Amino acid sequence: MAKTGAPKRILVIHGPNLNMLGRREPETYGYTTLADIDRELKRLGPQWGLAVDTFQSNHEGAIVDTLQQSMDTLAGLIINPAAFTHTSIAVRDALIPLAVPIIEVHISNIHKREPFRHHSFVSDIATGQIVGLGVNGYYLALRAMADLVGAFAPQERT
Ligand code: DQA
Repeated sequence: MAKTGAPKRILVIHGPNLNMLGRREPETYGYTTLADIDRELKRLGPQWGLAVDTFQSNHEGAIVDTLQQSMDTLAGLIINPAAFTHTSIAVRDALIPLAVPIIEVHISNIHKREPFRHHSFVSDIATGQIVGLGVNGYYLALRAMADLVGAFAPQERT
């Protein structure tokens, strides 16, 4: 599977409490751990012409700092802002200057859950949103990102 040029850097950010995946409300979030997700993303990335970095924090400011430090180094961003999705104008404001494709991922279907989870401060500035498909949402987002950042020549899409 040929790729176009050097690997493109994709950052995957996981928000608060996602470090507890596997032990946290498994009926909602499943049993896959964050380490499992990150390992699979890093395995899949090179197959699709992408170099994947991952970052998790429970702290809003740490996520803002990471986004600021990533400016000009990223081809695309995948983010599950977790609870900050519904609360954080600071994270939203830090996303806007990135000027790269952004895919918002939620493991659960936030639109089927409590009303306070229905609003996202990120979705209207994201390129796309994947919800409710479990941890597969991350892998689907990465595959879509390969096309968005042109890591494949069109005739080589699979
Ligand atoms: C979540 C949904 C959010 O409402 C929640 O606060 C999370 C996880 C998800 O992946 O389904 O922590 O982003």
